[in-house]
Amino acid sequence: MDKVLSGKPIAALIKTALKDLIAEQDIKPRMALIQVGSDPAADYYVQNIVSNGSKLGCTVDLDTLSAETSQAELLDRITKANVDPCIHGIMLQKPLPDWIDDTAVGCAITPEKDIDCLNPVNLGKIVLEADSLVPCTPLAVLCTLRYYQIPVQGRHVVIIGRSAIVGKPLANLFLWKKTWANASVTICHSRSQDLTAITQTADILVAALGKPEFVKADMVRNGSVLIDVGINAKNDASGKLAYVGDIDYNSCLDKAASITPVPGGIGSVTSSLLFLNLVKACLLQRGVNKNIDDFIGLIFGA
Ligand SMILES: NC(=O)c1ccc[n+]([C@@H]2O[C@H](COP(=O)([O-])OP(=O)(O)OC[C@H]3O[C@@H](n4cnc5c(N)ncnc54)[C@H](OP(=O)(O)O)[C@@H]3O)[C@@H](O)[C@H]2O)c1
Repeated sequence: MDKVLSGKPIAALIKTALKDLIAEQDIKPRMALIQVGSDPAADYYVQNIVSNGSKLGCTVDLDTLSAETSQAELLDRITKANVDPCIHGIMLQKPLPDWIDDTAVGCAITPEKDIDCLNPVNLGKIVLEADSLVPCTPLAVLCTLRYYQIPVQGRHVVIIGRSAIVGKPLANLFLWKKTWANASVTICHSRSQDLTAITQTADILVAALGKPEFVKADMVRNGSVLIDVGINAKNDASGKLAYVGDIDYNSCLDKAASITPVPGGIGSVTSSLLFLNLVKACLLQRGVNKNIDDFIGLIFGA
């Protein structure tokens, strides 16, 4: 088993599969990327999406709204993108200003164009094991395990974090009756008692809590697989801005059978999966349905 589970070869595979599919189906996927205001991290992500899009042959229409944008104005932009037949997917860059209700804007995105999976219809379909647009980060975790051929079926997965965009959909995907899932799942959060006693029972431990280097070696079972979803900005010893995960990589490396790095782990896979959802949405709007298994087959081989 590989010790360090880099996301880079997986991202490269996904991009190649998508380019081939775009050419084969002769489609021109187009995304509306809406950003409200600006901050350095959000600007970085947005530019990354725009540049990845042009490399893949997808168009990304960046709509940058002022930091003072009202909820009504944002809803109006979403409605326009919903009804525009040239737009196949809508991505809303987070964070949004405090006065905007994330749930309300998520509900406003039509489910067929909801490539970041903010609409409750798509989230609900995950619980029902029905085909839908799946949130990119949870799917990135499963793609990483699949690529490195780490068995999931029957194993105990512990997830720290119960957000609607990472922890909860990921827990539900791990429960799907599929050979790449079929896990037993425990989900923990800030009110869980004796977290260490729980995390020590994990075959696969997923950290998605947004606390830099929170998971230490004493929380980890020998020989377990550690998946780090966290991305936290931190000044390094020289005062330079660096990114670390939710797992203390250096202290856990020896105990783990495998571990994802930050950066270069789950985050790299996530950004390419946004385009998988865009392509899926574009095909769906042309009446072609490819489900998750089709995409897994396309990327990793049958
Ligand atoms: N790699 C990627 O592509 C990607 C994508 C999205 C997010 N992220 C990163 O993933 C991390 C999580 O993001 P998110 O949006 O899911 O965060 P979030 O919405 O802030 O949720 C954090 C979750 O962690 C739990 N938590 C916080 N402190 C805890 C503690 N001390 N012990 C146990 N549980 C604790 C919270 O519990 P309560 O529910 O009790 O508050 C909550 O459920 C962040 O670092 C984010 O930057 C990465």
